[in-house]
Amino acid sequence: MTSKHNQLTLLRPDDWHVHFRDGDILDTVVDFTARQFSRGIVMPNLTPPVTDVDNARNYRKRIMDAMSDHYNFEPLMTCYLMDEMNFEEIERGFREGVFFAVKLYPSGATTNSALGVTDITSLYDVFEKMSVIGMPLLVHGETPDPAIDIFDREAFFIDQVLEPLVREFQGLKVVFEHVTTKEGVDFVRSQGERVAATITAHHLVINRSDIFKGGIRPHLYCLPIAKREHHRLALREAATSGHQSFFLGTDTAPHSRNLKESACGCAGIFSAPAALEIYAQVFDEENALDNLESFASINGARFYNLPLNQSSITLKRQPNTVPQYIECSDRSVLIPFLAGESLNWKILE
Ligand code: DOR
Ligand code: ZN
Repeated sequence: MTSKHNQLTLLRPDDWHVHFRDGDILDTVVDFTARQFSRGIVMPNLTPPVTDVDNARNYRKRIMDAMSDHYNFEPLMTCYLMDEMNFEEIERGFREGVFFAVKLYPSGATTNSALGVTDITSLYDVFEKMSVIGMPLLVHGETPDPAIDIFDREAFFIDQVLEPLVREFQGLKVVFEHVTTKEGVDFVRSQGERVAATITAHHLVINRSDIFKGGIRPHLYCLPIAKREHHRLALREAATSGHQSFFLGTDTAPHSRNLKESACGCAGIFSAPAALEIYAQVFDEENALDNLESFASINGARFYNLPLNQSSITLKRQPNTVPQYIECSDRSVLIPFLAGESLNWKILE
């Protein structure tokens, strides 16, 4: 990485957690990710979810078709875990290079998770086999129990599910996706190299009070929901520390404006339009620009045993206004994270 006062060049980063959707939204959003990232792990929570090799292959092709020709982005596909799983199908997808990882959504925890897992212990034989073939497990780390306060669901999940899971399967690679709590950060730090976490841009920027600042702000609602300030500070510390177990995953999750601005608005923050620039701003604020490359471009690739990207990307320190909205081909509208706000960094194209 080279950094002059006003310019920063780093190995091209990867986004280890992306929602692209399908159809018109897919056509609109892919380029926002492809313009800044080299690879991305694509979430499988479509309707219906991606659970077999053919569907994953077809979805990957639709992503490639939606992308502009001048981009070189590589989508890495995931398999949506359900209670009843045929491991042969997962393994075949892994061996054929179609499935990169398996995604575990506790049933009811978030958007399109209804078909997710209700009893994790029923999948212990699958986890055993995944450990053997070296296939990573990506975890949405929240207990979906409605009796548990929404702000406590991550901490409960760590105690009740995650800790026993990683203890039972010492050879399983586990990624605690979009960690949002100090408890989560501490847990990951307490584990060895085979447990890691992604951290979103938005959880580094907002805390739970921001969701209600001056009125309810549906575009800041996501799951796991943003937590108290001391959790945000713990996330900032972890991300900017350079620690090998924390890496970039935006969890960019576009939903059309009418579904967000509704009596029951859905969860998801669309951060792709300025993701890397927002991370750069956070690292700059923390005087940690020297660690941005580890977080964005190195730690994830090392964890997944992938080569580092060869090409680089340059950011310039200059005012950069996030678009107010993005219009899709079906005329629906997406509101990006920090819409209309000015950032201090801009990707040099
Ligand atoms: O806020 C979220 N949105 N969290 C998730 O886990 C899923 C995502 C989505 O698919 O919209
Ligand atoms: Zn997600």
